Parts: sequence; C-alpha cells; structure tokens
Amino acid sequence: MPGAIHAEGLVKTFGDVKALDGVDLDVPEGTVLGLLGPNGAGKTTTVRCLTTLLRPDSGTAVVAGIDVLKHPDAVRRNIGLSGQFAAVDEYLTGRENLQMVGRLYQLKAAAAKARAEELLEQFHLVDAADRPTKTYSGGMRRRLDLAAALVVSPPVMFMDEPTTGLDPRNRQQLWEVIKQLVSGGTTLLLTTQYLEEADHLAHDIAVVDQGRVIAQGTSDQLKARTGGERVEVVVHEREHIPTAAEVLRGFGKGDTTVEEHTRKLTVPVTGGAKLLAEVIRELDTRGIEIDDIGLRRPTLDDVFLSLTGHVAELTAEENGANGSGDPAAKEPRQQKEAAK
Ligand SMILES: Nc1ncnc2c1ncn2[C@@H]1O[C@H](COP(=O)(O)OP(=O)(O)O)[C@@H](O)[C@H]1O
Ligand SMILES: [Mg+2]
Repeated sequence: MPGAIHAEGLVKTFGDVKALDGVDLDVPEGTVLGLLGPNGAGKTTTVRCLTTLLRPDSGTAVVAGIDVLKHPDAVRRNIGLSGQFAAVDEYLTGRENLQMVGRLYQLKAAAAKARAEELLEQFHLVDAADRPTKTYSGGMRRRLDLAAALVVSPPVMFMDEPTTGLDPRNRQQLWEVIKQLVSGGTTLLLTTQYLEEADHLAHDIAVVDQGRVIAQGTSDQLKARTGGERVEVVVHEREHIPTAAEVLRGFGKGDTTVEEHTRKLTVPVTGGAKLLAEVIRELDTRGIEIDDIGLRRPTLDDVFLSLTGHVAELTAEENGANGSGDPAAKEPRQQKEAAK
C-alpha cells in the first residue's frame, strides 16, 4: 500500500520512562487516523518513530510502503511532517519560507515560486506573505508550518497536535484546510488531545494512554462500546444535586457523573423516552426543579472516561474551569503525568 501507515509493537524507553509500550497502528491509504490521548501518552514519540526522527527500541513500521527502520531516507522523501512546535524561520517572510522549503526539496526556482504562491493562496496567507514570520499570529504560523509540510505534496502526512494553543476560530480554519487536504487523497496521521478534533477530522481514532493503543475504531464504534444513551439533567439548585444523583442512580446502568459547576448530572441508561419520562416524574415527586433534561448519545468524552478510567470528578473540574465548550478547556490530565 503506497500511502498506508503500519506499525507493530513499537517500544521506546527514555531512561526508566516507557514512552511507548508496544504501539500497533494501521492507517489505510487515503484515510485519517486521529491519535488521541492525554499529555504524556506517547503521541509525539509515536510520530517521531514513524517519521524517522527517533529509532524505536523494538517493533516495526512501514510508511508509504517503505520500511522505516531499513530505509529512513526513502521514507523522508515520501512524508510531510508538521510538528507540535511550528518550525519556520522567523526572519524570512512567509513567501520566502515556502520557497526555501521547495528549494530544499530540489524544486527548480520557478517551480518553488509557483508552489509557494499556490500554498499562500490555499492557506489564506497572501496578505501576510511579505511579512517576516516573527510578526505572524499563532494561527498564521501554524498555517505556514502546515503549508511548508505540503510543498512537495507527500502521499503521507503527519501532524502533531496541529491546533493546540489556537483559539476556536483559528482551529476551525485549520480544520477546513486539513479537510481539503485529505479530500485530495492524502493519508494523514494526526495527534490531538481534543476529542472534538478527532471526532471532526478522523475516520478512525486510536486512543493512546501510557504508551499503548487502548482502543481503535470509528468515532461511532468507540461510542457504541460505552453503551447506549445518557440522561443528562441540569438541576436548578446546587443543593439538589445529591438527591438528583440518588434518583439517577436508581435509573442508571452505570456511574452517575456530576459537574458541580454547571449543576449537570449524567447517567448511562437504557429505555429511551419512556425512561426519561419516569426520571422527570421522580425528580418532580422529590421536589427537584430542573433547568434542562434530555437524552443524548455518548460523546467521545464518555468514551475516554470509560476507557482510561479517569474519574468523572476530574472531568467536572476541567469543564468547570471553562464551560464554554472550547476544547482547550479539556487540558491534559495532570493526574496521568504525576502517575509516571
Ligand atoms: N526525549 C525524551 N527524554 C525523556 N523522556 C521523554 C522524551 N520524550 C518523551 N519523553 C517521555 O515519554 C512520555 C511520552 O511523551 P510524548 O510522546 O511526548 O507524549 P505526548 O506527545 O502524548 O504528550 C512522557 O512521559 C514523556 O515525558
Ligand atoms: Mg506531544
């Protein structure tokens, strides 16, 4: 498969830290795999191994049909990499940066120029093309970095946390660019800490935690694994949370999660609308006023929680810090880092 990515049993240790503990991955040609995991899970190490920047202690990898360990140079000619930290020359303009990359890849001067113009257009950087990139905003740098990785249209792309640190608007813009890119048939492995991003961009999602892939599938498949729908209730009064939680526990088929900050309680259920009506009646009987109630399908958040076993209180805290729905609110699970 000329455009596929395949890895088996990748292990990488740094001193006594086992960064990769046997990573297996399969990305069919022309598809997008989202490597989803908290900070320290092993995402960057995986990308570095697959892009020849790091040699795994053991395991095998084939990228674009080429053995990564045996023919790293050939692999490099067939991939594009956009790193976690944008790698552009601060003192060159956007246009100069892109032309330089083209020259590095042995394009003739005219071809490098033409390619730079195309990319400036595609990444909405024409207006800023003649400014030194040190004057660029974070979002513009990310776009330029991505453009630089695409100068020679590689069949396989790697992007390590392409939107981390971007504001929601820039994130959206970049998603559009990435979607365009993959609609052209590029195989993409993308890492992210943002469930929403994986949900949005990836055909398949591999959840990594502590150096291992703990689950892989489409967003729907992963959601199906965590069971059916959820009842979600927002109570009007904070002091009603414990009683409401007791009611939900009575109806639930799993753990009830509580977000103190938003007064939201969630529990997995089976029984649909009929059950929902019963829950409402019971809450009413107990004198609990509700602001909102409904049935919803599990989100990737639920999936992540159930797979990694992170307690719901942690999510509640994270969400509590920023209830805006901005994925940036779901920052890395510090607890995991501490556990290392
Ligand atoms: N060069 C390195 N030296 C020592 N430890 C490292 C190095 N690179 C990564 N690690 C450790 O390996 C683990 C995985 O890191 P990384 O792959 O960067 O995770 P992620 O990208 O998912 O946040 C972490 O515990 C990290 O501290
Ligand atoms: Mg990383």
